[in-house]
Amino acid sequence: MKKLADIGLIGLAVMGENLVLNMESKGYTVAVFNRTVDKVDKFVNGRGAGKNFIGAHSIEELCASLEKPRKVMMLVKAGKPVDDFIELIIPHLEKGDIIIDGGNSHFPDTIRRTKYVESKGLLYIGTGVSGGEEGALKGPSMMPGGSPAAWPAVKEIFQAVAAKVEDGEPCCDWVGEDGAGHFVKMVHNGIEYGDMQIICEAYQLMKEMLGMSADEMHEVFKAWNNDVLDSYLIEITRDILGFKDEDGEPLVEKILDTAGQKGTGKWTGVSALDLGIPLTLIGESVFARCLSAQKDLRVEASKVINGPAAQFEGDKAQMIDDLKNALFGAKIISYAQGYNLMMEAAKEYGWNLNYGGIALMWRGGCIIRSVFLADIKTAFDKNPDLANLLLDPYFKEKVEAAQVGWRRVCATALSNGIPVPALTSALCYFDGFRSERLPANLLQAQRDYFGAHTYERLDKPRGQFFHTNWTGRGGDTASSTYEV
Ligand code: 6PG
Repeated sequence: MKKLADIGLIGLAVMGENLVLNMESKGYTVAVFNRTVDKVDKFVNGRGAGKNFIGAHSIEELCASLEKPRKVMMLVKAGKPVDDFIELIIPHLEKGDIIIDGGNSHFPDTIRRTKYVESKGLLYIGTGVSGGEEGALKGPSMMPGGSPAAWPAVKEIFQAVAAKVEDGEPCCDWVGEDGAGHFVKMVHNGIEYGDMQIICEAYQLMKEMLGMSADEMHEVFKAWNNDVLDSYLIEITRDILGFKDEDGEPLVEKILDTAGQKGTGKWTGVSALDLGIPLTLIGESVFARCLSAQKDLRVEASKVINGPAAQFEGDKAQMIDDLKNALFGAKIISYAQGYNLMMEAAKEYGWNLNYGGIALMWRGGCIIRSVFLADIKTAFDKNPDLANLLLDPYFKEKVEAAQVGWRRVCATALSNGIPVPALTSALCYFDGFRSERLPANLLQAQRDYFGAHTYERLDKPRGQFFHTNWTGRGGDTASSTYEV
């Protein structure tokens, strides 16, 4: 075993343990530390026994056991613990050493921390790590950003442990400056929320409208996983629907219908509102979780408020095929919206994002991995300046073809009183996006009417603003222009 370790890790929870085991299996020596120090010996003598690990019992010992430039990675709870550890690590590092945060940190924190750590002469990386426990062990998707000078020092280790796609390309590359890596991971999680929600909407329609059993749905998801929807989330849904409780009944039906969330989907929605990007599918997915959490209120409402009873008399097989198209169409919209958010953020925060590269990072290892991401990569490889995924010829054609079934699904769901917020909001975005004219002319007139907010005219050049005295009672003074 080498005397000094290639990298150090703080945080021996399940993700941390699995990630260091992954690193070690690729030939690296890893120094490990945990706040509850007992865990260090337990790990080194347990899962890590006989392997190239150096157990450290203090941060000082951890830093002293690293090769230069020292690389100290934290896999700890996002928020204050990250700031606390940074303070504890800094005194034991020297110029050029690197602090890495591999948790789900909020990107503004990573922007702030990069500046702070750089001000101490050190380098900082905030990296998204996706794929759960299994991904950490067998190959996660990694999205690093931070101090560009730190990348060459960690590239080899990160790319060695990351998942690989069919041609051997690693699902890890440099994302960009300061908070770019955590921003991209945040959008990944937002897309994860969206993919999960549309799958749940399809499940509810199959169950309540088509009256299908868990076993029948299991078969549908199995077939979908061999087609355009082939993805990790479809695959685990297939398995969940096929999973039986001890009494032989499907376990999924015994689970309380209130969704949890740790906040990354909400952050994505808030960021979209801040940047003025219509991220409707993800937004609805976050709100759907919020509505599900109001269980007591819903139970009360269900007893007193009536709606149509779900009944379906059409062609069931056709509806299942339509559902596949609805999921596919909505998924294209979700990615189009997520990519738009990243494009706007890149402008706002000065990041030079490689959109094809991001699709490749998400292609394997992570929760949203799917065959579909290969087509997104191709779209951005063909046109790196693609303004919206829907304008790519391949996706335009696919979404146009999917819309027929997708519209049938939404219309049928609405008339049966089954909520499909993500599928319908995505369809409305699609129709809005392809509309030359939207009713915002009337909206501008309303704003001008009650608040003299002014409007532009179709028959005058852009940038010239007009105010009308609509009632004859108002004056000619327009309100000053301000943008939120
Ligand atoms: C991943 C996941 C992970 C996320 C969980 C829980 O990429 O491995 O995105 O980072 O934290 O999925 O998220 P919620 O609790 O918000 O559903």
